[in-house]
Amino acid sequence: MLLGVNIDHIAVLREARKIAEPDPLDALGICKRAGADQITIHLREDRRHIQDKDAQNIIELSALPVNLECAISPEMIKIACELKPHRVTLVPEKREEVTTEGGLYIQGEQVQLKEAIKSLQAHEIEVSLFIDLSLDAIRASIALGVEWIEFHTGHYANIYAMLYSNLSKTHHSIPELELCRTDLKKMLKEELCKLRLLSCEAMEQGLRVAAGHGLTMQNVKDIVEIETIEELNIGQSIVARAIYVGLEQSIHDIKTQMIR
Ligand code: PXP
Repeated sequence: MLLGVNIDHIAVLREARKIAEPDPLDALGICKRAGADQITIHLREDRRHIQDKDAQNIIELSALPVNLECAISPEMIKIACELKPHRVTLVPEKREEVTTEGGLYIQGEQVQLKEAIKSLQAHEIEVSLFIDLSLDAIRASIALGVEWIEFHTGHYANIYAMLYSNLSKTHHSIPELELCRTDLKKMLKEELCKLRLLSCEAMEQGLRVAAGHGLTMQNVKDIVEIETIEELNIGQSIVARAIYVGLEQSIHDIKTQMIR
């Protein structure tokens, strides 16, 4: 199973001080040595972590393929076409969000998406759509002619966290908090089942399937068992563990969890 390491989180630390370190560029060699298959970066419209120069340098210098996540705005598509990463993953973006909270609303953005995908593919960039777990989103992705979809696993990760981790560590208000463990276990099982069925459907329809958001050393195991998912993009948990065990070890450990 392929691993894309999302190195935005290194730039988050740098931007907290607006200085030069840590430089996400320094992570490229480490990611490759540790067994990563892809570098993933998100150039946000508000440039809160990865900057234009980072994206340019990373795409130019990475020995691994680069997956650039960006919004569908004309500005971002123009930058992506100029930078020519291996893949562009189109994501929804809201300025007020802490992180990408859900998948694209494809039905509501058909025209803009069509234009964006056409431009990117004309520049020989493969395109992925970050989507929620829905059959409609898969059908719309097929109609748009993209090569990849990436399922948003945030909901799965939240349920897992409610069930198994120390809730006091999370800062989000989780409405399902009051649910008992049995209900949470059922929800988790249903979410995994949905992911399995939809991944299979997408693959049978000719799409390549990735997944990501909120995946960790602990919660990744059940996702790995879904054979129709080819790739996972993981950032926050890898960089968080890197503080204690080092980046190379952290990537190596999660990649080991991903062996089928
Ligand atoms: N995939 C996509 C499309 C994302 O937007 C993100 C978050 O930046 C990730 C994967 C990685 O999520 P996380 O940092 O929670 O592992």
